[in-house]
Amino acid sequence: MRAIRARLLHVESTGTLRWKYLEDGVIIVESGLIKEIVDAGQGQRDGLDLSQCEDRRDMLLIPGLIDTHVHSPQIDVIASYSGQLLDWLDKYTFPAESRYSDPFYAEQSAHDFLDGLIAAGTTTAMVYVTSHEAATDRFFAAAYQRQMRMIGGKVLMDRLAPANLCDDAKGGEEASARLIKDWHGKGRLGYAITPRFAVTSSPEQLASAGRLHKAYPDTWIQTHLSENHEEIRKVSELYPDITDYLSVYDRFGLLTERSVFGHCLHLSEAEISLLATKGGRVAFCPSSNLFLGSGLIDLKVLREAGAMVGIASDVGGGTSLSMFRTLGDAFKVCQLRGYSLSAMEAFAMATLGNAELLGLDSLIGNLAKGKEADLVLLKPKPESIMARRVGLARSIEEELFVYMTMADETLVAETIVNGVTVGRRND
Ligand code: GUN
Ligand code: ZN
Repeated sequence: MRAIRARLLHVESTGTLRWKYLEDGVIIVESGLIKEIVDAGQGQRDGLDLSQCEDRRDMLLIPGLIDTHVHSPQIDVIASYSGQLLDWLDKYTFPAESRYSDPFYAEQSAHDFLDGLIAAGTTTAMVYVTSHEAATDRFFAAAYQRQMRMIGGKVLMDRLAPANLCDDAKGGEEASARLIKDWHGKGRLGYAITPRFAVTSSPEQLASAGRLHKAYPDTWIQTHLSENHEEIRKVSELYPDITDYLSVYDRFGLLTERSVFGHCLHLSEAEISLLATKGGRVAFCPSSNLFLGSGLIDLKVLREAGAMVGIASDVGGGTSLSMFRTLGDAFKVCQLRGYSLSAMEAFAMATLGNAELLGLDSLIGNLAKGKEADLVLLKPKPESIMARRVGLARSIEEELFVYMTMADETLVAETIVNGVTVGRRND
């Protein structure tokens, strides 16, 4: 059992945004699960021995952060100068992913990636590995070792990419099925069927991905959608008989409530309506959208249409694994669309909102009793400008806004996975 005394903050509901802040709270963790959160004074009156608590009163404790779209091998290409999406893929991403044919390299990288997530306070992510089965297997093994709640998948690509990254419809389907059998539902792991995007998958491959999801309906599906104008043009060329980009995925059974579509920047009204009707999920990737010059999502329009939108780093198109940093970019993107995203709304997206988007909200996303104890303790580095600025904050909302505007990984003092401390900043 662990009892941690800290300032506690979590989102209780996202529909009508409701959150709870305890200025002096205690969280009790038992067997990897949250037993309860209490106000320290109340707890003491009820017999809780505060001297037995780990004293983190100088920190803000929040639920582990969730990233709904990130590419693990692309830690190798963050911050690569290039033109827009297709140029960046050809010049940097595909060559970097080719290295993952070496399982040893892939294993080392998976550990570095997961360490990077932990340092950033991200405890759950939905991950594109590479098209290599062994690399994907190593990724799952590394996440399993850390008891992290991770979703991942082998990338499916059977055309318009370097030959050493391409599979074929049958081979990709069989490899995915083997990985599903080995890892989906093992410990805290889940599998996402991962056709990279309609450009690099033939109709046969998209059909095989749809078949796989039918055979394993509690897996997820992840892919890219409507990120870049040149990409959209290519899709219409490659699938001339299908009305629009989203309908390509729909045609092959890939538009479901378990599907997470990265980007969704340039959707037509018809596509937005189809997306909302079928319950497809949107991963908003602001850092990547700015870095690759892809465009500005219209969060309000998507939400008003009834689409569920989460938040994601999309490293390495995105430039940081920090979800706080990602939220800062989300704020700026929304400002350019005339919408000022509030700190609590942003925080809700990266925690309970993303858990709901993934259908994992009965397990993670806030500090409710019975949820898995994935927790993050925040404290700006002493004597940093952020520490000074946050010292002047007059409310928890203002504090959060400072974090999302100024933060990077150095904000995270400690990360707890399944009740166990797995990362601690030393200062
Ligand atoms: N579209 C297809 N592949 C990718 C990728 O790796 N990153 C991004 N941002 N978009 C993609
Ligand atoms: Zn992506």
